[in-house]
Amino acid sequence: MTYDVAAVRARFPALEEGAAHFDGPGGSQVPDVVADAVAGTLRAAVSNRGVTTAAERRADGIVAEARQAMADLLAAVPSGIVFGRSMTQLTYDMARALAKQWGPGDEVVVTTLDHDANIRPWVHAAEARGVTVRRADFDDKSGELDVAAVAGLLTGRTRLVAVTAASNLLGTRPDIPAIAERAHAAGALVYVDGVHLTPHSLVDLGRLGADFYACSPYKFLGPHLGVLAADPALLETVRPDKLLPSSDAVPERFELGTLPYELLAGTTAAVDFLAGLVPGEGGRRERLTVSMAALERHEQALLRRLDAGLAEIAGVTLYGAAGRRRTPTTLFSLDRVTPAEAYRLLAERGVNAPASHFYALECSRRLGLGDTGAIRAGIAPYTDESDVDRLLRGVRELAG
Ligand SMILES: Cc1ncc(COP(=O)(O)O)c(C=O)c1O
Repeated sequence: MTYDVAAVRARFPALEEGAAHFDGPGGSQVPDVVADAVAGTLRAAVSNRGVTTAAERRADGIVAEARQAMADLLAAVPSGIVFGRSMTQLTYDMARALAKQWGPGDEVVVTTLDHDANIRPWVHAAEARGVTVRRADFDDKSGELDVAAVAGLLTGRTRLVAVTAASNLLGTRPDIPAIAERAHAAGALVYVDGVHLTPHSLVDLGRLGADFYACSPYKFLGPHLGVLAADPALLETVRPDKLLPSSDAVPERFELGTLPYELLAGTTAAVDFLAGLVPGEGGRRERLTVSMAALERHEQALLRRLDAGLAEIAGVTLYGAAGRRRTPTTLFSLDRVTPAEAYRLLAERGVNAPASHFYALECSRRLGLGDTGAIRAGIAPYTDESDVDRLLRGVRELAG
């Protein structure tokens, strides 16, 4: 099925401002239907969840629909979908809750490829319990995290492996099923950061082998909140701190306070929009399968165009572009212009391609980019060839 990028772009009011958006890995633009769903919820009568009034029932329905939408997106079950303010908040909360079961001598494994949101919560939880943190290093030439780098750190005391499904800096994708198999064989749980993968590739929680999978709708055309998916039976074994009167049921046990109903409605709309990226028949998961495959082909073709164009420009250094499997995300620097200056000069040309370590701080340092980082260009569902060419033209001008 062909991907009609012009039709997709027409649904994004933000694009009317004219910029070429390569800032999607930081947060995507949203289609009209997501904005409408958020506004529509705020305009309707909505109360706290309940069954007595129409307003209560509306809130209840919105939560149920959003859990079902995320379950369809991740091939998870609705009662295993936890909503929170952000992936960072959900990961801190889960780290603290899981760490109640850890003790001195236990170990956790994190990776230097990860965003700090999947490192620091585990480091802090480990510190609080006298648990040892081991770091799996990625190969700084290829940008790849080898299975062996994680497997080599596993012991009988490893309680958890925290690993990213895709680097938000380099786009490289560790082999999560193989890592999960090794971790499970050692008796460890696997917590996967799916924030950067979810917008680009259809996820199947069971196939990935992740015990926990965290992502953020605002990276895949939705509003600003976070989602954690897990097997409800596993969630039953975890006891987070919670208020006395609040529900102890799973997944509500993990959702502190009142949920943002308008953002949940926006999340459902985002998943529906993804499912409809190309016209198709069948249930939502089936349509997601077809649409996400078409999206992946579209984005990977643009990535090849971008990488090939950048590689031809003298004075441009590409990082991790040799990665075997990458999301459509490219990190690069220029010999003659600092990343911050390039970011500013590209913005003047209507190209939004930020420069930073993007919180993948350990990754940036290992790449030799220190705390400065480099320029990141991320391709999104609304990116087209003219955006890529505009970026390449801008980089040529800065390099020349
Ligand atoms: C790979 C990755 N993990 C985690 C996060 C943090 O997500 P959130 O803002 O939902 O806490 C980000 C945000 O940029 C990210 O790119």
